[in-house]
Amino acid sequence: MYNPIIDKTKENPVILGIESSCDETAAAVVCGRKVLSDEIASSADIQALYGGVVPEIASRAHTDAIAQVVERAVKNAGIDYADIDAIAVTYGAGLLGALLVGVSFAKAFAYALGKPLIAVNHIRGHLSASYLACPTLKPPFVTLLASGGHTAVLYTKTEAEFEILGGTLDDAVGEAFDKVARVLGLKYPGGPHIQKCAEAGKPVIPMPKMLKGAGGYNFSYSGLKTAVINYCHTKEQRGETYSKADVACSFQCAAVDILVEKTVEGAKEKGVDTVTAGGGVVANAYLREQLQKACDRNGLKLVLPEKRYCTDNASMIAMEGAVQYMLGNFADMRLNAKASIPLATTLKT
Ligand code: KG4
Ligand code: ZN
Repeated sequence: MYNPIIDKTKENPVILGIESSCDETAAAVVCGRKVLSDEIASSADIQALYGGVVPEIASRAHTDAIAQVVERAVKNAGIDYADIDAIAVTYGAGLLGALLVGVSFAKAFAYALGKPLIAVNHIRGHLSASYLACPTLKPPFVTLLASGGHTAVLYTKTEAEFEILGGTLDDAVGEAFDKVARVLGLKYPGGPHIQKCAEAGKPVIPMPKMLKGAGGYNFSYSGLKTAVINYCHTKEQRGETYSKADVACSFQCAAVDILVEKTVEGAKEKGVDTVTAGGGVVANAYLREQLQKACDRNGLKLVLPEKRYCTDNASMIAMEGAVQYMLGNFADMRLNAKASIPLATTLKT
C-alpha cells in the first residue's frame, strides 16, 4: 500500500529531484532554495558521435547510470533517505524511453521509502531554476524560456498562475543553434560551440529580420536557420571562402537580440519589475550580457540562474518539486511519462 505521509507544515522541505528527459541522468537534493547536492551523468559525448541525441542510446545510458547518480546525490547532500520529504521527477516533456527510466525509478523509490511523489513538468523546472539564484524571488515576473525544445516569453502571476505571452511558431532557438552548428561543422550540442566560434567574428553578414517589431511575442527561427544554410551553400558552390566566425557571430546576434527585445517588452507590458530566464540557451554569454544591459536600461531587475542550472539538471526539478509541494500537488503510483505536454495546459495549474 502506498500511503505516504505528507508534512504540510514544512517550510523548507528536503526534495530529491530526478531528471532523465533527454541525454542527462541527473539527481539533486534541494532544501528550501539551497542546493545540497547536484549530480549528473551525461551521454552527450556518445550522442556527439551521431550528431544529435539517439533516443535508444539515451534510454540505455539512463538505465546504467540512474541508481548510482541518485545514491551519490543523497550521499553528497549529507542526508539519510529518511530525511527526504518528497521525490520529484520529470514526467515530461521529453524522450519517452528516457523519461520512463526516471519515472519508474522515482516511483519505485517513493514506494519503497513511503515518500510523497511529485510530477514535474521539465519546462516548469527551467522556470524554477531562477528561485535557486535568488532566495527572495517571488512572482510576479516575466521569464524568457530558451531551450532546445522551447522558446517563449512567460508571465508568472503567482506560483500557480502562468500566462504564455508568446512562443516559437516553428523551430526552438536551441534547435537553430544546433542546426547552424552542424552546417558550420561544429559538434553537438551546437550552442556552446557557436558561442566560442562567434568570439572571433563580427556580425557583418545580413540576417533576416525574423519577427522583429511584429508577431507580438512570437518567434520564428526557421527563416534564420535557412538563411545561414543558404549563405554557406552558395559560398561553397561558388568556390568562395567565408568566415565561420562571422557566420556564427551574425547568427548569434540575430537569434539573441530578438529574444532580449521581446522579453523586455513583455516585462514592460505586464508592469513587472523583475525578469528571469531559463533553459540551455540562457547559458549563452552574449544572451546573458545583452539581457542584463537591456534590463539595466529599462530599470528591470534581472535574475539569471547559474549556467549549470540553465542546461538540464536535477536541482531545478527539485526546486520546482518544492514549489509543487507548497501548492499541495502530489502524484501517485499511476504517474506515467509523457513525451509531450502542451505548454498552455501545463502552465496553468
Ligand atoms: O535546456 P536544455 O539543456 O535542454 C532542453 O530542455 O532542450 O537546452 C539545450 C539547448 C541545446 O540546443 C544547446 O545547444 C543549447 O541549449 N545551449 C546553448 C548554450 N549552451 C547550451 N545555446 C547557446 N549558447 C550556449 N552557451
Ligand atoms: Zn531542458
